[in-house]
Amino acid sequence: AEGWILVIGSVNVDLVLSVVRHPEPGETLAGTGSRRSPGGKGANQACAAARLGGDVRFAGRTGIGADADLALDLLRDAGADLSATDQMPDVETGLAVVTVDEAGENSIVIIPGANGSWTPEHVRELGDAVAASDLVVSQGEIPALAVDQIAQLCATTGTRFLLNLAPVIDVAVSTLATADPLVVNEPEGRLALTALTGDTAPEEDAGTVRGLREAGVRSVVMTRGARGALVSVDATTTEISSPRVHAVDTTGAGDAFVGALALGLARGERVEDACRLAVRVGAYSVTRGGAQPSYPRPSDVLPG
Ligand code: RIB
Ligand code: NA
Repeated sequence: AEGWILVIGSVNVDLVLSVVRHPEPGETLAGTGSRRSPGGKGANQACAAARLGGDVRFAGRTGIGADADLALDLLRDAGADLSATDQMPDVETGLAVVTVDEAGENSIVIIPGANGSWTPEHVRELGDAVAASDLVVSQGEIPALAVDQIAQLCATTGTRFLLNLAPVIDVAVSTLATADPLVVNEPEGRLALTALTGDTAPEEDAGTVRGLREAGVRSVVMTRGARGALVSVDATTTEISSPRVHAVDTTGAGDAFVGALALGLARGERVEDACRLAVRVGAYSVTRGGAQPSYPRPSDVLPG
């Protein structure tokens, strides 16, 4: 049977600016185009899973009005349940200014707005939703104390918790120990390891992943861009390679990966198997502009 995924996390409006190259400090640069689309790592991950056919509930916080409508538009479109998402009159919807160069590389500035208003109390109100879910997913774009509370709820209800520590925030050691899996990219993995052990992380990805496991993380998935993913579960570490694609816009590719991974895990797949679809979903997303607008339907990534 298909499992329910509860994503608790950030939702933004992305203002995406296309540039030939990124500007230098003090420089004024003419861009080549602009577009506004839904974003935020939490909403992106929920959208990716829902568009692939998953049963997804998204718990986010936005302001009200046109920005909130835009931010939630593609989630709604993908069929995600938004009954646990709060729209509040006294805060701004989160905003991300995303600059994308000709190589598809992005730099992002975020104004958290409503995403920063999450408290442990808000999370506790989701207790029943957590208990009713097969997998809970969160990220580092809401306050660390809220993420800690999510991990605690997962631990007490025995619900599997996927933590994408993007960006790396100061969560409790017990939160990292509850994550199964912890999903990080290469620099995030090194930062997380240093936060856990106080030591400098090794240069090698495999060493970083091993270090995280030895420091008490149950399972680790490291995303490595075009090089795919490194998965460490039980006593085995597996390299999953990514299909080769022409990158147009890498924004939200990690979120596409996490959404697809969540879908597989909620359906009871092994982490390695779920990652095999996830790398293809991530690769598909970089061939098109934007985050959520670029996420695939099942027919886009599955044979037949
Ligand atoms: O991971 C990509 C996302 O990061 C963007 O959609 C932007 O909103 C920021 O949260
Ligand atoms: Na994209």
